[in-house]
Amino acid sequence: MRFDVLTLFPEIFEGYLGQSLIKKAIDRGLIEIHRWNIRDWATDKRKSVDDKPYGGGPGMLIMCPPVFACVEAVQRAADPPGRLIMLTPQGQLLNQKLVERLAQEPRLLLLCGRYEGFDERIREGLKPLEISVGDFICNGGEVPAMLLIDAVSRLVPGVLGDETSHKYESFSESGLLEYPQYTRPREFRGMKVPEVLLTGNHQEIERWRREQSIARTLQRRRDLLERRDQRMSGAPAGDANAGDRVSGRTEPDAVDLRLDQQDTPDGRDD
Ligand SMILES: C[S@@+](CC[C@H](N)C(=O)[O-])C[C@H]1O[C@@H](n2cnc3c(N)ncnc32)[C@H](O)[C@@H]1O
Repeated sequence: MRFDVLTLFPEIFEGYLGQSLIKKAIDRGLIEIHRWNIRDWATDKRKSVDDKPYGGGPGMLIMCPPVFACVEAVQRAADPPGRLIMLTPQGQLLNQKLVERLAQEPRLLLLCGRYEGFDERIREGLKPLEISVGDFICNGGEVPAMLLIDAVSRLVPGVLGDETSHKYESFSESGLLEYPQYTRPREFRGMKVPEVLLTGNHQEIERWRREQSIARTLQRRRDLLERRDQRMSGAPAGDANAGDRVSGRTEPDAVDLRLDQQDTPDGRDD
């Protein structure tokens, strides 16, 4: 899988690309990450990429000409031209479902903003998929782009080594938070590893983990169960009764019966 990052600060990625899983994935040819400096497509002597907003207001906006020229050149640089993503706090929120969809693409172009953001005509003219990493404002799109690369590349076959490991993680196939995990020592400062994990009884361990996963999701992220419940019942998002249906279920086993079912076959999103 190939990522092309379009940014005014390509150096920000230096440390990230040289470490751990991402470095290994690049070295093994599983992913490619190319960085492009939008400023290289500026046309005036001062290499300007930003200007003041019409109508006044604080800060500077990234201008259309260098961005259009950069995107078009990068698209032409390899085949296929790739899917253009704009990192913006105004975009669709990144979640595991979206990450899974992006991991199916052979090539992603990640357009990183800075300053007060982009001239609106960049959205209109280039029609990117707009993605936000959360309801907060970062200084630029580079950290959000790294976050996206990190989450998507984990799903590229071979990157994790153990292909099953991401299936059991929070938000993955089950739509639940992951169960608690323990490693050696068996006891630390009076805190013991739950007995069931030491029994070697895989069925019992599986059952305990499932219950813990459900209990933890109910406790911390009830919204995940509510959304799942809506999907299964075919209720539209925002169904006022969906929360009541879930809140009645405090027994893990009662929830378990419903959650054993698969997602809707059309893979509909939340
Ligand atoms: C300071 S922000 C501009 C925010 C813009 N004025 C607004 O209110 O929507 C500069 C750039 O950082 C990136 N950015 C900031 N927060 C982000 C977020 N939550 N998700 C994705 N990108 C973000 C975007 O690329 C954005 O163009």
